[in-house]
This record gives sequence, structure tokens and C-alpha cells, in this order.
Amino acid sequence: MSISSLVRLLISLFVAFVVLAQSDKPHCVVESSNGKSDDSPAIKAAFTKCASNGVIEFKAGVDYNVWTPITHKLNNVDIRVNGNLHLPNSIIKVLQITNGRKVTWFQFSGANVHWIGSSNEKYGWINSYGQQWYDANPPGKTGLEGRPHLFRWAVNQGTVRHFKSRKPMGWNVGISGDNNLITDAIIDAVSSTSAFPFNTDAFGVGARNVTIKNSYILNGDDALAIQNGAHDILFENNTIGYQTHGMSVGSLGGDPNSPADVSNIMFKNITVKGGLYAARFKSWKGGKGLVQNVTWSNIRLENVTFPIFVTQTYQNQALGQQSRPSGQAVRMKDFTWSNFSGTINTQNPGDGSCVKPCWYNDGLPTLRHTEAVILGCDSATSCQNFVLKNINLEPAGGNAHTTQICMNAKSDLNPRLGIGCSNGTFRAI
Ligand SMILES: *[C@@H]1O[C@H](CO)[C@@H](O)[C@H](O)[C@H]1NC(C)=O
Ligand SMILES: *[C@@H]1O[C@H](CO)[C@@H](O)[C@H](O)[C@H]1NC(C)=O
Ligand SMILES: *[C@@H]1O[C@H](CO)[C@@H](O)[C@H](O)[C@H]1NC(C)=O
Ligand SMILES: *[C@@H]1O[C@H](CO)[C@@H](O)[C@H](O)[C@H]1NC(C)=O
Ligand SMILES: *[C@@H]1O[C@H](CO)[C@@H](O)[C@H](O)[C@H]1NC(C)=O
Ligand SMILES: *[C@@H]1O[C@H](CO)[C@@H](O)[C@H](O)[C@H]1NC(C)=O
Ligand SMILES: *[C@@H]1O[C@H](CO)[C@@H](O)[C@H](O)[C@H]1NC(C)=O
Repeated sequence: MSISSLVRLLISLFVAFVVLAQSDKPHCVVESSNGKSDDSPAIKAAFTKCASNGVIEFKAGVDYNVWTPITHKLNNVDIRVNGNLHLPNSIIKVLQITNGRKVTWFQFSGANVHWIGSSNEKYGWINSYGQQWYDANPPGKTGLEGRPHLFRWAVNQGTVRHFKSRKPMGWNVGISGDNNLITDAIIDAVSSTSAFPFNTDAFGVGARNVTIKNSYILNGDDALAIQNGAHDILFENNTIGYQTHGMSVGSLGGDPNSPADVSNIMFKNITVKGGLYAARFKSWKGGKGLVQNVTWSNIRLENVTFPIFVTQTYQNQALGQQSRPSGQAVRMKDFTWSNFSGTINTQNPGDGSCVKPCWYNDGLPTLRHTEAVILGCDSATSCQNFVLKNINLEPAGGNAHTTQICMNAKSDLNPRLGIGCSNGTFRAI
């Protein structure tokens, strides 16, 4: 036998083995009690049995009670969510589980894991029955204590397709694994009463190489919050709205001893339908570190209160402005806002997250709610190489003219700012 035919034989044996191995992939179909009891034990058993090179399947159209949290480390696994998952429809039951601790209901780690929700819009939902939590928030408070986070994805090299969250109790998805693609997600945190859905952030990302696209997000906090350690993040082709707090970088610099390190963040081709913020940077007073190369481009706005917003005096509304170091701030470098079009919410600005004193108006005595741009740089050196171009925003309902607030973005470090750094009428130069 020649060397080359031996090699061919070995290759064909290897291919045969791989195919066999694939057809042998353990396949775990999760059984349901059909609403009678907690299906978490069955779910855990399936995840344990198929944790490596497996397929875990929630059956099409079937309802599953996930009444206790699920945490698994997986390797090379497909999670097919063709049914609907239900968290406890009872505040008391959930509080018995969280019991004063920080709990995340679903937590996945490992590598090459794929969450594949149903492409049928009726299935693949996680129902969290959050409305009763929004309604139970005491007046003047910013959300009930003891709410769990919904979902943590600490997977490296993963995909999350058709993730659907209905009425989350609070925070939706935290991504802390590298190299992930999230596509076709739906987040529905729309409150059916006047109660505000506090902290219903859709995505928080503190990881490398993450893309979130083709998604639809209606909620009452950040659509995406870029967290410390985020690099190479793309947020593209999404629609966000309702009481959204926008496409946010931050908050950063909360721990004055831990420098922020964030770079290469791109938000592009986004529609923002209503909401408090569209493009936002937030860092705490007295933070440290560097955020570099951030772009918001091709953004369409409908009636948004603060279209472009930079603050370096971010605070936790529940705690108020606290004593913080002075003479230092998180630095921002190479920030671009390009091609914004649409309208500013001038007629009825703000949202139900305002608890007196209203956090989002704090520190802005000259606010008129006709601002297209608010740049609140901490000092003459904290903002560098900012670029605003092709910003076409008008107050909704006409009559008023567009204004701006700009502090400390001096022209020597920001030669292409595109506006004069002052308060008053918005004027591109
Ligand atoms: C980024 O993540 C995607 C999705 O997992 C992956 O296909 C791609 O190879 C990654 N890019 C790099 C440079 O690692
Ligand atoms: C954006 O979404 C549209 C459908 O709404 C799709 O045709 C297009 O390919 C998407 N673009 C990207 C970059 O995924
Ligand atoms: C931009 O997003 C919209 C949907 O929001 C989509 O229809 C359109 O195809 C996208 N454009 C590109 C260039 O991907
Ligand atoms: C800035 O970030 C973009 C991705 O958003 C990337 O393509 C580009 O290379 C980065 N620029 C630099 C100078 O690193
Ligand atoms: C500006 O944004 C609009 C709407 O998203 C888009 O149709 C247009 O192509 C963009 N222009 C440029 C120069 O990218
Ligand atoms: C803008 O949104 C506010 C609610 O925040 C609403 O009262 C107002 O009518 C809206 N304006 C337009 C023009 O849609
Ligand atoms: C510009 O507006 C900001 C925010 O309201 C205010 O703090 C600042 O004093 C104003 N600057 C001037 C020169 O009036």
C-alpha cells in the first residue's frame, strides 16, 4: 500500500468515526409535568446527561415549569428551546429562593454552546411574570428587593438565537463569555400598568467579540450596557424602545480603584422608538481608566428624551450622590456619533424611572428638553477626539428649535467635534 493510499484510508476512517460520533451525540428530550409541578429536576437531569457533545431539547409547544434556578457547565451542546419556559408566577415563591442573595435563574458556562430558540414567535419564550413585581414596587422606590437576574451566558464560542423574554422581573441577559453571536432576540418588558419596569436591562456585556443583531427590545433600562472589560462589541440592526435607557457604555468607574478598560464598540443601524436615551456614556464621579473607539452610526430616533448623552457624574438614584474621589475621571477617546435622524421628546420628556429628585435631570440646571446633544465631560482632558457628524434631530411636534449642552470638550483635544462646545442653539460647524 502506498503512503498516499494509506493516508486516504486513514482520512476516510477518521471521517467515518466523526460521523458515527455525531450520530451518537446524546440527545436529551426534556419531559414536562404539563403544568402540574416543578420541571426543574427533569431539566437538570437532561443537562447533566447531555452536558458534553449533546443536544438538549425542550419539546415543541410544550410548557415547562422552571421553578428553581438552573446552572450548568456545558461543552459542545445545542439547547433547542421549542417549548415555553415558566418561572414561578409568585413573588413569595421567588423570594423564598433568592432569600436575600443575588441569584441568576439560568447560568451557562463552558464552550461551544448554542441556545437555539424556536423561530416560531409563539414558542421559545421565558415567561417571568414580572408585571406583579413592577406593580409591587413601593412608591418612591426603584424596584423590589430580591429580584433575580434572568440569564447569564458565560460561554465561550457560543450562539444565542431567538432568545425570548416576556415580562422579566429585572435584568435579562448578562454576557461574560468571549466570541458570542446573539441574533433575533426579543425582550418584552412592557408594563401593562403605570408601574415602571425598573432594571429590566436587556443585555449587559463585559466580554470580547460579541455581536448582538436583528433583535427587538422593549424595556425600562439599558438595551445594551457595555461593562468593564468589553472589547470588540457590535450592536447592529436592532430596534429598541418603549422606556429604553438606550445603547449605553457604562456605568464605568464605579470602583475608584479599578480602572475601566473598554474598546472598539460599534452601534449601527438602530431604530429607537421612544425612550429616555438613545446613545449614552455614563461614568461615576472619581472613576479611572480609558474607553476608546466607540461609534454610534445610522441611528433613527422617534421621540427620544436624550438622544446623545455623556455624563461623568452618574449615580445610583437609590443612594444619591455619595462622597467620591475628585481630580480623576474615566477618560474617553475616539468617540463618534454619525448620521442621527428623527425627533426629540420635548412635549412630555422623561419616564417613570424618575424618583424625586429626578436622577436624569440632576446636575443639568440649564436643561430645556430640546437638546439633541448633551456632553458633560468632567474636565478639559477627559474627552478626546469626539466627532459629531450629520446629526439631524428636531423636537417632536415642531415649534421649538434644537439645542445642545456641552461642557469641557475643548477644541484643542476635539478638533473635529462638529459643534462649538457651549450651551444654546444646536449648530453644526
Ligand atoms: C468572534 O466570534 C464569532 C462568533 O462566535 C466567531 O465566529 C469569530 O471567529 C470570532 N472572531 C474572532 C476574531 O475570534
Ligand atoms: C438586517 O435585518 C434585515 C431584515 O430586517 C436583513 O435583511 C439584513 O440582512 C440584516 N443585516 C445584517 C447586517 O444582519
Ligand atoms: C437596517 O435595519 C433595518 C431593520 O431595523 C433593516 O430593515 C435594514 O435592512 C438594515 N440595513 C442594513 C444595511 O443592514
Ligand atoms: C475601532 O473599532 C472598530 C469596530 O467597532 C474596528 O473595526 C476598528 O478597527 C477599531 N479601530 C482601531 C483603531 O482599533
Ligand atoms: C444614514 O442613516 C440612514 C437611516 O438609517 C440610512 O438610510 C443612510 O444610508 C445612512 N447614511 C449613511 C451615509 O450611512
Ligand atoms: C412623545 O412621548 C411622550 C411620552 O413620553 C408622549 O406624551 C408624546 O405624545 C410623544 N410625542 C409624540 C410626537 O409622539
Ligand atoms: C451649560 O449647561 C450646564 C448644564 O446645565 C451647566 O452646568 C453649565 O453651567 C452651563 N454652562 C454655561 C457656560 O452656562
